[in-house]
Amino acid sequence: MSTTAQGVGGVEMSNVTKRFVTPTGAAMTAIRDVNLVVEPGQFCAIVGPTGCGKSTTLTLAAGLEMPSAGTVKVSGQPVVGITRGASFVFQTDALLPWTVQGAACLLALAALPALKSPATRGGRKPS
Ligand SMILES: Nc1ncnc2c1ncn2[C@@H]1O[C@H](COP(=O)(O)OP(=O)(O)O)[C@@H](O)[C@H]1O
Ligand SMILES: [Mg+2]
Repeated sequence: MSTTAQGVGGVEMSNVTKRFVTPTGAAMTAIRDVNLVVEPGQFCAIVGPTGCGKSTTLTLAAGLEMPSAGTVKVSGQPVVGITRGASFVFQTDALLPWTVQGAACLLALAALPALKSPATRGGRKPS
């Protein structure tokens, strides 16, 4: 596997599998044994039919989900929480339906101190 993906912004996935538990309690394998290297500065598009696991792959790189098996690294570091420096545009809006947009923004700002604490970032020390 390439080592240049360990530079800032590089992404490496090694034998990554992600399983979800469906509402019926069954295990659903969204992606299996994915190996992926994206070099720093490289433009990468993941293309495939609906349901093939594109979003699942991106959520693992962003740290929104953890893999069921395998390792995910960004900038050479294992992803153990929200990936700092990652931006993520959801396919559908992620607004809170029970409140207005302004209140939703304030909620995010109120959560910032917690997001900055090492404990909520998987124990990593700020650098
Ligand atoms: N949170 C989840 N719980 C259960 N199944 C999920 C979940 N997220 C995704 N899936 C399933 O995993 C598969 C891949 O989904 P997804 O990554 O969203 O595909 P894509 O983005 O390529 O359309 C689909 O069958 C989807 O229904
Ligand atoms: Mg998708």
